[in-house]
Amino acid sequence: MNKKNIVDKILLGKTCIPSKSKGFAFAPSNIALCKYWGKRDNILNLPVTGSLSISLGDKGASTTIYPIEAEKDVVVVNGNPIDSDVPFVRALSSYLDLFRSHSAGGHSGPPLRFHVDTNVNIPIAAGLASSACGFAALAKALDNLYGWELEASALSILARLGSGSASRSIWNGFVEWQKGNCPEGLDSHGVLIPVEWPELRVGLLIFRREEKTVSSRIAMETTVKTSPFYARWPEVVDGDLTQLRRAIMEQDFKTVGEVSEANALAMHALMMTAKPSIVYSEPETLKAQQQIWACRHRGLQIYFTQDAGPNLKLLFLEKDLEIVKREFVGVEVLAPFGGK
Ligand code: PMV
Repeated sequence: MNKKNIVDKILLGKTCIPSKSKGFAFAPSNIALCKYWGKRDNILNLPVTGSLSISLGDKGASTTIYPIEAEKDVVVVNGNPIDSDVPFVRALSSYLDLFRSHSAGGHSGPPLRFHVDTNVNIPIAAGLASSACGFAALAKALDNLYGWELEASALSILARLGSGSASRSIWNGFVEWQKGNCPEGLDSHGVLIPVEWPELRVGLLIFRREEKTVSSRIAMETTVKTSPFYARWPEVVDGDLTQLRRAIMEQDFKTVGEVSEANALAMHALMMTAKPSIVYSEPETLKAQQQIWACRHRGLQIYFTQDAGPNLKLLFLEKDLEIVKREFVGVEVLAPFGGK
C-alpha cells in the first residue's frame, strides 16, 4: 500500500481541481506529553504506539498554496525562497506529488507545480515540531484550495503521510493520536480530547536554534532496530496514556507533569541505548533539568518534556508564571488555551 492509494481512499472521488485561486490555512505546533517513537510502517508513518499532545495555541505554521506553471515547486519559508535541493523541499515536493492538478490541457498536460509560502513562528527543526505544524497546515491549505471540506480525522491522516506528529496538529488543545490497527492506517489519526485547561502554561527553553544533526526519522529507525529495551516501550506508553487521559480529564497537574517528564526521559533512554547511541541533550539541557528538579524540591510545580533536540519545554500553571520567569530567564511562555 503506498501513499497515493491512501490519498485516493481519503478523497473518495473528490478531485484535485482548485475551487479558488489560493488555499490558506494555519495549524498549531504540538508538544507530545506521551511521545510517538517508532513506526510500524515507514512509508505510511504508522506508529508502533499511540501518543498524546498539547497544541501550542497561536504558535505554528500559516501556509498559502497555489498552482503555478513551472518546472519545480517554489517553496518560501518565512520570506526566504528555499533551494529545491534542500532535503526538506524534496520531501515537500514528493508529498505534493500526491495532490497535483493538471494545466488547462487536462491530464494530457504536465502536472502543475505549487507555490508554497509558509510562515512559522517557532524555531524550525529545533525539536519544536515545526514539521508537524508545517505538514498539518499544508494538508489544511490543500483542503482549502481544492474545496474538499474533509473531516478533521481525514485531514489528520493526510497530514500524517507528511510527518507522523503532524496528525496531532489539526486541532487545538489536547489530542490523542490513536495508533489504529488496520494495515492501511485509516484508523490511525488524531482525536481531540475535549478538555480546556486555561491555566496550563508551556515554557520554551531554547538552547539551540540550528538544525538537528540526526533527523527524528533516522533516530526512530535506529532505536527500533537496535535498542535492547525497545520491546518494553509499548507497555510504558500504554500505562502513560491511561494515566494522562485520566489526569487531563481531572486537571490533575501533578500526574500530567510526572508522567510527561518520565515518558520523555524513557524515550531518550531508549535512544541512548541504540547502536550507535543517539544523544540530543547538550550541557545546557542537563543543567536546566537539574534546575527544574531543584525547583521542584523547593515546592514549585514544574516539569519538563524534551523532543528530538536539546531544547526543553516546561510545563507549569499560570499561578507560578512570575517565579518561572525569574528562575528561567529568557523562557518563552505559551498559553495553549489563551491568556498571558
Ligand atoms: O513526526 P516526526 O517524524 O517529526 O517525529 C516526532 C518525534 C517526537 O517529536 C520526538 C515525538 C512526538 O511525538 O512528537
